[in-house]
Amino acid sequence: MARKTKLAILSVVFLMATVGLVSTAVSSAVPLAGYQEYGPLTEDMVTDEMIATGGGMFNSGSCQRCHMQGGQGGGRGPALTDDQWLHSEGDLEGIRSTIVSGVAEDEFKGGDHPYPMYAMGGMELDEDGLNALAAYVWSLSRDES
Ligand code: HEC
Repeated sequence: MARKTKLAILSVVFLMATVGLVSTAVSSAVPLAGYQEYGPLTEDMVTDEMIATGGGMFNSGSCQRCHMQGGQGGGRGPALTDDQWLHSEGDLEGIRSTIVSGVAEDEFKGGDHPYPMYAMGGMELDEDGLNALAAYVWSLSRDES
């Protein structure tokens, strides 16, 4: 009887270990939460329409709550209008990846802010929306005027 119980316990432990191993293998193959494979985003893909769409999303969506209208910056989020980039090279894909991941408190590079930047700025963004937003932010420091 005791031997049987021992065996039963052993096989449960074995089963759990196997499941654990398999799920570790599976989860390391699955991208991190919030991360998706996006297609390329290059300067020749950017249109005025995209920038206008992105601007609408930025200035009516969550982004302006921290980065203020036009991305001029404030206490809750840095200016996005200058050519000083804290989290990327300021290229389209770099900006896009910051938007996708957000910025955790322990990653702040521009001093203190009261809140972290949530992944996607807390917005629901599909690839087109994300690309439009990235194009808008990118355009802010490239104003020809
Ligand atoms: C809750 C506040 C908050 C919201 C909402 C928010 N951000 Fe941010 N954002 C931050 C903070 C804080 C940082 C990092 C500042 C630092 O490192 O000191 C940041 C950084 C960035 C950067 C990197 C700037 C650099 O210099 O590299 C980009 C780009 C950006 N945000 C775009 C956006 C966009 C687009 C949205 C809307 C989808 C958005 N943010 C929404 C607070 C916010």
